[in-house]
Amino acid sequence: MAPVISALFLSLYLLFNFVAISSQNDEYDQTTAKTMEAFSGYQIHEPPFQGSFSSLSVDIESLQRQIDELSTFSDTPAPSVTRVLYSEKDVLARRYIKNLMGLSGLSVREDAVGNIFGRWVGSEPELAPVSTGSHIDAIPYSGKYDGVVGVLGAIEAINVLKRLGFKPKRSLEVIMFTSEEPTRFGISCLGSRLLAGSEELTELLKTTVDGQNISFSDAAKLAGYTNNEDLSSVLLKKGSYSAFIELHIEQGPILEEEATSIGVVTAIAAPASIKVDFEGNGGHAGAVLMPKRNDAGLAAAELALAVEKHVLESGSIDTVGTVGILELHPGAINSIPSKSHLEIGIRDIDEKRRNLVIEKIYQSALSISKARGVKLSEFKIVNQDPPALSEDSIIKASESACQELNLSYKKMISRAYHDSLFMARISPMGMIFIPCYKGYSHKPEEFAAPQDVANGVRVLALTLAKLSTS
Ligand code: GLV
Ligand code: MN
Ligand code: MN
Repeated sequence: MAPVISALFLSLYLLFNFVAISSQNDEYDQTTAKTMEAFSGYQIHEPPFQGSFSSLSVDIESLQRQIDELSTFSDTPAPSVTRVLYSEKDVLARRYIKNLMGLSGLSVREDAVGNIFGRWVGSEPELAPVSTGSHIDAIPYSGKYDGVVGVLGAIEAINVLKRLGFKPKRSLEVIMFTSEEPTRFGISCLGSRLLAGSEELTELLKTTVDGQNISFSDAAKLAGYTNNEDLSSVLLKKGSYSAFIELHIEQGPILEEEATSIGVVTAIAAPASIKVDFEGNGGHAGAVLMPKRNDAGLAAAELALAVEKHVLESGSIDTVGTVGILELHPGAINSIPSKSHLEIGIRDIDEKRRNLVIEKIYQSALSISKARGVKLSEFKIVNQDPPALSEDSIIKASESACQELNLSYKKMISRAYHDSLFMARISPMGMIFIPCYKGYSHKPEEFAAPQDVANGVRVLALTLAKLSTS
């Protein structure tokens, strides 16, 4: 018994001594640690990474192959990509991502809506992890880089760090978010919005259906997510991550035009979406004379023009508005539209200004319905999200990564929304942009040069390394 007790005392003595030494001296003393480990019989501290980040090497051939392979999981022919939430192709693509995460040695978990997490456990797993990621769903007839670069690129960033022999202190986690695009259920950033704690959304999803009247719950079940009656398990608490950073193509022309390698995002514009329905009497397109008509299609057309007018009236180049969906019922050349449906997106970096535009659109919808004798049967603001600011410390970490890697960069805002907009609700957030051809996105011509993708992955890897040791 006595030798055991004295060994215990010796261990404790050495342990306290060690703590004292390390608090006095910030520089890690490897010799002391080794001695400590020899005496105590377990690992006391992970030695800090001694290698050099100057040789961060991205396997761009494999990464490009993965981008190309993933694009084949599509419901429309190449070069277009269409990958809609919980479709067969989406399920196959998800399997592809989980497989890659496994090959990179990450421990994989999925939540009840299919957000996928791949974790590289750090030497201090009790600390909040650093996370990165994006989405792989693709709107109809879009391209193969939107979101994908931020998922496959994140897995490759982990590979880069592993090849270098780097050991993270905080765990590093790659997240593939479910349905950033609103294509199927009309809800943008469904996975990250939910994960960031939207209890309102857990309720809304109970009654949400797609265009075919398939409920969210049934669609999720068909994709293998059978446990989705109670979505509260998806919600994460503020502080679950010490940082979140997303790599993405710019989706605009600035970086390419200015020949700048990297965009460091400082803020994400505030998006809002609105659904509008008009109803009229319809009727025969030949027999009903013009003064007798109340044409729901013309009401929609007039409202679309009013959207443009109110957006331009804001006087700011940062206010944008789009009528991306306009449907007429019954949709026959010889029938006056009896119903029309519009979906309108309004975005701005100034939330107040954007909200004023929404109010003006509402007033126009009311006056158009009155003037044309049609019923405004719905004017629903689906989401009206505030903008998000990047965290200073993450901006600085990305900037210094660019400097160390000798890459030109500029600070910029994101006019597109991203899962980062919602991750900012629970975690300090940042984003890294890479140039894309002519700024094209959401169309098949979307392209990012392999060198630009590789640069983005290197900046991401180095930023993750910095954040994981802070
Ligand atoms: C994201 O896809 C967006 O529309 O901004
Ligand atoms: Mn997109
Ligand atoms: Mn995207």
